[in-house]
Amino acid sequence: MITYNDIKKQLNINVDKHLNDGFAHLTHYWQTYKTIESKHFKSHAKQYLQEGILSVVEEPDQFYIPFKYDIPFPPTVKPRFTFIDLFAGIGGIRLAYQNLGGKCVFSSEWNDFAKKTYEANFGEVPFGDITQISEKSIPDHDILLAGFPCQPFSIAGVSKKKALGRKHGFLDETQGTLFFDIARILKYKRPKAFMLENVKNLVSHDKGNTFKVISNTLTEVGYSIHYRVLNGKHFVPQNRERILIIGFRNDIFHGEENFNFPELPESNSTIKEILEENVDNKYTLSDKLWNYLQTYAEKHKAKGNGFGFGLTELNGTSRTLSARYYKDGSEILIPQDGVNPRRLTPRECARLQGFPDSFIIPVSDNQAYKQFGNSVTVPLIQAVGKQLVKSLLSINEPTKSQEPVY
Ligand SMILES: C[S@@+](CC[C@H](N)C(=O)[O-])C[C@H]1O[C@@H](n2cnc3c(N)ncnc32)[C@H](O)[C@@H]1O
Repeated sequence: MITYNDIKKQLNINVDKHLNDGFAHLTHYWQTYKTIESKHFKSHAKQYLQEGILSVVEEPDQFYIPFKYDIPFPPTVKPRFTFIDLFAGIGGIRLAYQNLGGKCVFSSEWNDFAKKTYEANFGEVPFGDITQISEKSIPDHDILLAGFPCQPFSIAGVSKKKALGRKHGFLDETQGTLFFDIARILKYKRPKAFMLENVKNLVSHDKGNTFKVISNTLTEVGYSIHYRVLNGKHFVPQNRERILIIGFRNDIFHGEENFNFPELPESNSTIKEILEENVDNKYTLSDKLWNYLQTYAEKHKAKGNGFGFGLTELNGTSRTLSARYYKDGSEILIPQDGVNPRRLTPRECARLQGFPDSFIIPVSDNQAYKQFGNSVTVPLIQAVGKQLVKSLLSINEPTKSQEPVY
């Protein structure tokens, strides 16, 4: 049977040049083919083929022909639930929820390099800037998922007193922030549940006011919320604390969702276990950089601040992998016998976040470092997701995506 990559080749789709909304419509259409969600993508998918690349298609209806996905993480065939993936990055959250039997019916991510990695692994190009996407164009779904950017967010233009005094309603107060886009989609689409992920500091930012506005907004749009800061080190050898905010729709669950965050296993994985054999010399720090990092660390130590670089204990855990890792790799360095320390390879970064080795890394090292640094610890998300899905499926409302449509 013809495969996904064969079809792309036949249609002359060069992913680097086709990360636009046309290809996003087409891949979303293919993913949702024969389900009710496909109606959101069909006409634009067709238009894209006709306008751009139909000339190379022998059969005008070629894009209806069933094909086999030859990518690592194809769409779930008989889903237990549906979800959307916002601020999708490279799909760490999607991977966890697909593993739990969910089917993604919509994704959004504006960075072309992240889109490329996402497409290579999931066979879907995310739509772009979420602020430009109408909530009406998003299919119904059971769970909204979003690891929204950790840019510090303050309540622009409105005094805190006003925001907390509810002069305008909390939703209005979040306008202009990316959180607003999550809230407006929740308000319009009313998924049964959601999971949001962010940095730990979200709770303390602006003396707790930011989080107060976020939680009050989520309550205002009709959800009961649960949140906790959890550390990825229970699953991978990396200290990574993140806040997870879970919500359940009040008019369905009436606050009785019986949700519990998971018990986390003992942290016993070590850096040693994620290292590759035979690592290229290019990952070893140059004398210049290694000297610089040591001098810099000394200087700051003398002033009594900062930790400088992080030479990792191979039998222990690393510091948090950040999106800045590509700069000098100083936060996680691997000691080596007789030579300067080295930075992690992109594959080791993937492992440090719990991605399986089948995950394709189609971008440069620098982009890959940014992408894994921005992503999530997949098994932690999956453990939390498992609890969420348990509560979700305990109610008796079947997911709509199983209705066949042609
Ligand atoms: C913290 S990362 C989320 C990473 C994701 N959870 C993963 O597993 O890879 C936030 C993402 O939001 C994307 N982003 C920021 N602003 C956006 C916007 N207006 N529309 C769509 N995506 C946006 C960024 O490019 C980044 O990839």
